[in-house]
Formats: sequence, structure tokens, C-alpha cells
Amino acid sequence: MEGQQTPEILDYRNANGHGWSYYKHDGLLRPIFTTPENDMEMIRKVQKLELRDDDMMIAAYPKCGTHWLWEIVNMLRAGNTEYNKKSKEMAMLGAPKSERADELPSPRILNSHLYFRLLPEKMVEKKIKTIFIMRNPKDVSVSYYCMINGMKTSFRFDGTYSEYLNLFFEGKIPGGAYADYVKDWLQVKQDNPDLPVLTLFYENLKKDPVRNIKTVADFIGVSVSDELCEQIAEACSFKKLRTADTDLKEHVVTAPENWKEGHKGIFRKGEVGDWKNWITVAQNERFDDVIERAFEGTGIAFTYE
Ligand code: A3P
Repeated sequence: MEGQQTPEILDYRNANGHGWSYYKHDGLLRPIFTTPENDMEMIRKVQKLELRDDDMMIAAYPKCGTHWLWEIVNMLRAGNTEYNKKSKEMAMLGAPKSERADELPSPRILNSHLYFRLLPEKMVEKKIKTIFIMRNPKDVSVSYYCMINGMKTSFRFDGTYSEYLNLFFEGKIPGGAYADYVKDWLQVKQDNPDLPVLTLFYENLKKDPVRNIKTVADFIGVSVSDELCEQIAEACSFKKLRTADTDLKEHVVTAPENWKEGHKGIFRKGEVGDWKNWITVAQNERFDDVIERAFEGTGIAFTYE
């Protein structure tokens, strides 16, 4: 962009060459998949996106259950259990496909991993109903690693889980430090009482989908029968959603050709506590320590099993 200084490139790849390069934008670490200029241009477009009164937003750090929740909210807004044939990426602000978010019919269920300050400027003015979903950091780390280790795209990470975990602890992964993202949203809620935000946890949605789906329905102001909530929970169960994703969707990132042979893709395991199959005792101790310090004072108590 004319007149703009080229930002400093921060190469945070580890000694084995695994990881990513970044630049800083508005105090945030942004991964460079093409160029910083392209990224800044993408952010500018997102911030200028014309919001509609009936838009909704799902905000989440990667791997907290965005695809799942997106489908649930789509069904609630449609009042039926039909899977949305579109991939959620067109509605995912920050993804290349979202440049065409204008073409989506209303009501749009937008979603994003971007920090609030990079989202459309009119979020608060338009009182965009926002659902913020979190997941325990240990499962997030495993799910995130499995995704990027399985992908063939520029996002891919060919190192081991241990190598990834070091970068995760330091926040040198696309999306930055999980705790920073969460704390930013807590602050946004506090600073913007006019922005309606519902906070959910992946583990609660998993444990009691029907009750959580009702909570979402109340929040978005749709009246639904208990029966429909049960049907939506069933249609959005892990197995059904995975099959629907493979069979029905206009694929983008979730398409099989974007993943290494034999990899399960986004719909990998869908469980609480899979971290136990990945994290060593020593890593777990370090994890507990990092989590305790990073989330101190937030009042958040994650569920790990
Ligand atoms: P795992 O990798 O642990 O299986 P996101 O959509 O934010 O990228 O999150 C992806 C994670 O949500 C993956 O976790 C995926 O399997 C899980 N997920 C997707 N649909 C789910 C469902 N219906 N029930 C439980 N988990 C689901």
C-alpha cells in the first residue's frame, strides 16, 4: 500500500524450520501466508464490511467448535434440520472466501477467529448478536496441531506435537496465544455492554447439547420447540455432521484434497479429553502452570474430561 512502511518480518520458525513468519498489526501478531500488505488489505475489507441488522457473529479461537456451532445456529435460524450446503468459510471473516460474504443471503451467520478490533467496525453500533465459544486449552492444542499437521496448504506444520506445543505456549502460532484471545473478548464484553454476547463452552455443548441449543435459541430470539432442539442436536452430532460435511458441502478447506492422505480433516474426533492421548506427564505439568498464569483473574474454569 502506498505510503505505508513495510512491516518488520518476525521469523518464529523453530530450529527445525517448522513454524511461521509474522508481522505486527495493531499490536497483534499476524501470520504471513502471502504478504503483510495482502493481510492488511484483507483486514481493511473485513473492517469495512457492510453489516446487516440480522447478521450474527460466532467468535472463537481456532478449534473451539466453530463449524459445529455454525451449523446449529444456521438450523435454529432456518427452523429446520437441513444442513447448510455452503461451507462456513464464505461467512468466515478473515478467510479468503469471505471476500464474497456480501453474496450470502440473510440471515448471515458470520464467524471469525479474528480479534474483535479487526472485525467489522459497526459490530457494536449494529448490536450484532455474538456467540463466543471456548474450549479447554489442552484439547485446543491437540486439535489445532492435528489440523495443521494434516493440511497441505500454506498453513501446514510438519513438526511434531512437542515442537508445536512450544510454539503454542509462546503464542507463536496463527491466531496468537489462546489466553490473549480469550482475555481480549472478556475485555470487549466489559467495554461494550451494548454488544450482545453469549459465552459458551465446547464441553458443555458436548455434555448437554439440547440445553445449550435452547440457550442459543433464546439468545438469538427464535422460538423453538423442545423437539426441534433435540432434532438439531442429533443432526449436529459429530458423526452426522462429519458425514454431512463430506457428502453435502461445497468444500473449501475441509475438502479432502486439502488434507494429507488418511487424515480425518476438521471433523477429526470431536471429544473432550483427547489431550490425554497426546500430552506427556511433563508437558501436562507445564501446561497446567502456563494455563494457571495465563488465565489468572479471568474466573474461567475449563473442563478437561
Ligand atoms: P477435534 O480435532 O478435537 O476432533 P473448529 O470448527 O473451530 O475448527 O473446531 C474443530 C473441532 O470441533 C474438532 O475437534 C472437531 O472434531 C470438533 N467438532 C466438530 N463438530 C463437532 C460435533 N458435532 N461434536 C463435537 N465436536 C465437534
